Amino acid sequence: VTRTWKDIWEARRIDSTRPSQLAQLMAADGLDSGFSEVGEAAWRAVAARIGGRLGVTPASSLFEVGCGAGAFLYPFDEAGSPVGGLDASATLVGYARAAMPGARLDVGDAAKLDIDEKWDFVVSFGVFLYFPTLEYAAGVLARMAAKARRGIAILDVADAAKRAEAMAMRRGSMGAAEYDDKYRGLDHLFIARDWMRDTLRGLNLTDIAIEDQSLADYGNAPFRYNVFARTR
Ligand SMILES: C[S@@+](CC[C@H](N)C(=O)[O-])C[C@H]1O[C@@H](n2cnc3c(N)ncnc32)[C@H](O)[C@@H]1O
Repeated sequence: VTRTWKDIWEARRIDSTRPSQLAQLMAADGLDSGFSEVGEAAWRAVAARIGGRLGVTPASSLFEVGCGAGAFLYPFDEAGSPVGGLDASATLVGYARAAMPGARLDVGDAAKLDIDEKWDFVVSFGVFLYFPTLEYAAGVLARMAAKARRGIAILDVADAAKRAEAMAMRRGSMGAAEYDDKYRGLDHLFIARDWMRDTLRGLNLTDIAIEDQSLADYGNAPFRYNVFARTR
């Protein structure tokens, strides 16, 4: 039986022995593997930095595509921003709903993101690498741009220029044979920074900025980047 990424995200379960609700959501979202054992403080810091970079305040709404169990949204929900999200995993959306009863959370595919209901900021953290093709990614970017009133951010994108290094790190961290067995048929979509910039320009977004990922204890960080853009 071939496992797909969708099977994997559907099979995630909350580990209630984790010390806090945020730690439980982070682990459910996959921030608990050997190369992504991120601490809560580092996670809160990265969310605060990204929120600040976009201009998110408690008065502005934040929607996440591929929100999973809601680890990224959680600090913003705590701070009082209206938050919402869409994710293909019914399991993870269930955990997000339990953790953030006031949030607007839907189960569904990113390619079908609703664009009629506008939100101030539309973001996606650690999700584009699971998309099947660049064409699919381009379709999601167009919907994110159409849904956002003020700005979008695509976070933790796997950098096409660092594909070989990223795979060497991942395979080396657990042994190549074990990695290949565990991740057989589970590929990541690596995206070139130029493709990202050109695609966002084509959507008439402005102030496009691409920055290196920086997240303490996150082994994938050197191979990932963040993208920010404003709607006109
Ligand atoms: C690594 S988790 C990240 C969750 C959350 N954004 C976070 O940062 O904690 C990846 C998430 O992307 C979701 N996902 C992957 N491909 C998707 C797609 N095509 N449509 C909707 N969700 C998708 C998975 O279900 C999973 O919840």
